[in-house]
Amino acid sequence: MNELELLRQEIEACTKCDLYKTRTRVVFGDGNPNAKLLIVGEAPGYYEDKRGLPFVGSAGKLLDKLLEEIGLNRDKVYIANVIKCRPPNNRDPNIDEVSACSPYLFAQISYISPRVIITMGNHSTRLLAETDLGMTKVHGRVFKKGDKVVLPTFHPAACLYHPEWLKLSREDLAKIPDLLSKKDL
Ligand code: URA
Repeated sequence: MNELELLRQEIEACTKCDLYKTRTRVVFGDGNPNAKLLIVGEAPGYYEDKRGLPFVGSAGKLLDKLLEEIGLNRDKVYIANVIKCRPPNNRDPNIDEVSACSPYLFAQISYISPRVIITMGNHSTRLLAETDLGMTKVHGRVFKKGDKVVLPTFHPAACLYHPEWLKLSREDLAKIPDLLSKKDL
């Protein structure tokens, strides 16, 4: 079994924070483990918790559409979250939950080894772009992190209610094909 599958088994048995008590399923991540593009959301919601897969609710449908617009789909990218278990009633994850769970995301990043990471929403942006600036300031900026770049954009769930953010997010995501084709990032 490869490292990513071993990690999945480890997380499926995780009890590091209280979210294991209320989860139906762990949402490890999904997609192409050799992808050069990793998309990182926040935490599973209702449908993700039921199915054990990331972004399968209404935000996920929008994400699929946005990916299709730039010639991508779930077979070509990997999708994961900062938090692997659903917070009750979709509340924001707390600091302890983020510190318990984020080492798993860092391990996924090291095994998948993407060149480009899209952070969707504030939690993944804070963690991976290492900035406290709000999304209206940082979206679409390219943060160089070692041999990777991190590009923050608005969370698709937020875009469902804010057409102006959806427009900005489309502009941000339109940078991806170029970033992926660059030899040196
Ligand atoms: N929102 C997220 O951030 N991740 C999911 O998997 C679903 C909704």
